[in-house]
Amino acid sequence: MNSTHTSSSVPVLTIDGPSGSGKGTISRRVADRLGWHYLDSGALYRAIGVAAGWADVDLADSSAVVRCTFDTEIGFRDAPNGELRVLVDGIDATDELRTETAGAAASAIAAIPEVRSALKERQRAFRQPPGLVADGRDMGTVIFPDAAHKVFLTASAEERAERRYKQLMEKGVSVTLAGLLREILARDARDAQRAVAPLRPAEDAVRIDTTGLGIDEVVDRVLALLPAR
Ligand code: DC
Repeated sequence: MNSTHTSSSVPVLTIDGPSGSGKGTISRRVADRLGWHYLDSGALYRAIGVAAGWADVDLADSSAVVRCTFDTEIGFRDAPNGELRVLVDGIDATDELRTETAGAAASAIAAIPEVRSALKERQRAFRQPPGLVADGRDMGTVIFPDAAHKVFLTASAEERAERRYKQLMEKGVSVTLAGLLREILARDARDAQRAVAPLRPAEDAVRIDTTGLGIDEVVDRVLALLPAR
């Protein structure tokens, strides 16, 4: 830890929102433009989901999932092409993390309060100078409530399903648009209705509806919220 600063003096921009709202792409670009660190908190939940799968842990057995959370080492590495790679217990699991199966497992285990609290400090440790862009569901409400800048991104469920559909088709993954829309609506409902840290905008978050907007336009709108640099 750098002794010349306290963690709370490091600026944080939180970007929360439902899956498919463009959070990941927008957050990474904004972090690049600012030269700040980037936290993909969803990747942590997905990593636990993947590790639980590898270890044959029953997701309905919350104490086993909690044990798995404490036992799993998660690392991030920048690939030469600028991509962020995620290591689960030292193994590059980036591609597996992005699957619908990993997303569904992440959403299920994210409803376990002990898992959320076990991951709290791991997430806060990303707050390092010169600043942090934190992407997730509860960044502005629970993990960094004191963040100076908070954004809540939304987009219609139909548009989010279409974006995901295009991404998966490009990767050669065969899915149906109707199936994706159903999954997105189910995940939204689960994330919004869970008892701990449900998906909702922080009171002081600026909402941006990205339906019909291009990536650059959203990035510019987010950057415009920060003081001129
Ligand atoms: O952002 P994502 O799709 O990678 O997130 C995967 C799941 O993890 C999502 O369904 C909800 C959960 N999640 C969470 O509960 N809190 C976060 N801060 C990030 C993700």
